Amino acid sequence: MSAQIINGKAIAEQMLAQLKSRVDERASQGKRTPSLAVILVGADPASAIYVRNKRLACEKVGIRSISYDLPVSTTETELFALIDELNADAAIDGILVQAPLPPQIDEKRIIEAISAEKDVDGFHPYNIGRLAVRQPTLRSCTPFGVIKMLESAGLKPLGMDAVVVGVSNHVGRPMVLELLLAGCTVTGCHRHTKDLAANVARADLVVAAAGKPGLIKGEWIKPGAIVIDIGINRLADGSLCGDVDFAVAKERAGWITPVPGGVGPMTVATLMENTLLAQTLRESSVC
Ligand code: GUN
Repeated sequence: MSAQIINGKAIAEQMLAQLKSRVDERASQGKRTPSLAVILVGADPASAIYVRNKRLACEKVGIRSISYDLPVSTTETELFALIDELNADAAIDGILVQAPLPPQIDEKRIIEAISAEKDVDGFHPYNIGRLAVRQPTLRSCTPFGVIKMLESAGLKPLGMDAVVVGVSNHVGRPMVLELLLAGCTVTGCHRHTKDLAANVARADLVVAAAGKPGLIKGEWIKPGAIVIDIGINRLADGSLCGDVDFAVAKERAGWITPVPGGVGPMTVATLMENTLLAQTLRESSVC
């Protein structure tokens, strides 16, 4: 039997429409427009596309986006100075620095320089820590987007055996924490995992976040399992694919996300939600 496809694009569009209503309602109460500073350093073509999508989503929702397109030669000191300025600017609710950064800039130091309350990516160690201690505030966009996707599809992860493949700081690790919070028994697999196939084969819920095309073989999937593919890989012919062998996996899974049109749009919608949340949290801490 073929799996049900979880349409992330449609779920994200619904989320954006709901966020627009919330932003409009706040405007009608005379409240300030939420604002997101989006910083792009250099001209990496993939990053330029991601940033354009984030700016377009801001437009759709009614969030003001302020663009900083900086040259690839930007120094760490210059970027710190801009972040300091934005941290201190009361009219800015969220700060996003698109990764990857050029080699002269240390991404970890930049993430820590962003005020935790404006860290709408949810990458700051403070925000990851809050998620770890079950007090989430600004949650990493992609993992939180996956949780929202499951909710929207009516899938309840409580009690499931979940396997996350890939444990990067921005995606896999917070995904493990999100699934723990949702009541799963979670295994995080990585390059030193002894038997990836066996781990995937016993999972009720598989989340692929390794960034390796075709890493997860369709035959590994337990019949009826939920398969969430976070990987976005560009092949030599220019097409996009995930980490999961979709054609075979969809014949075994109960539910599966496509690439593109799966998790990607959810990341952007969650970023918009985080920006609105950052604004409301700052309002309540100022008053
Ligand atoms: N590069 C690729 N994905 C992301 C993301 O979600 N946020 C940021 N800041 N950079 C990225």
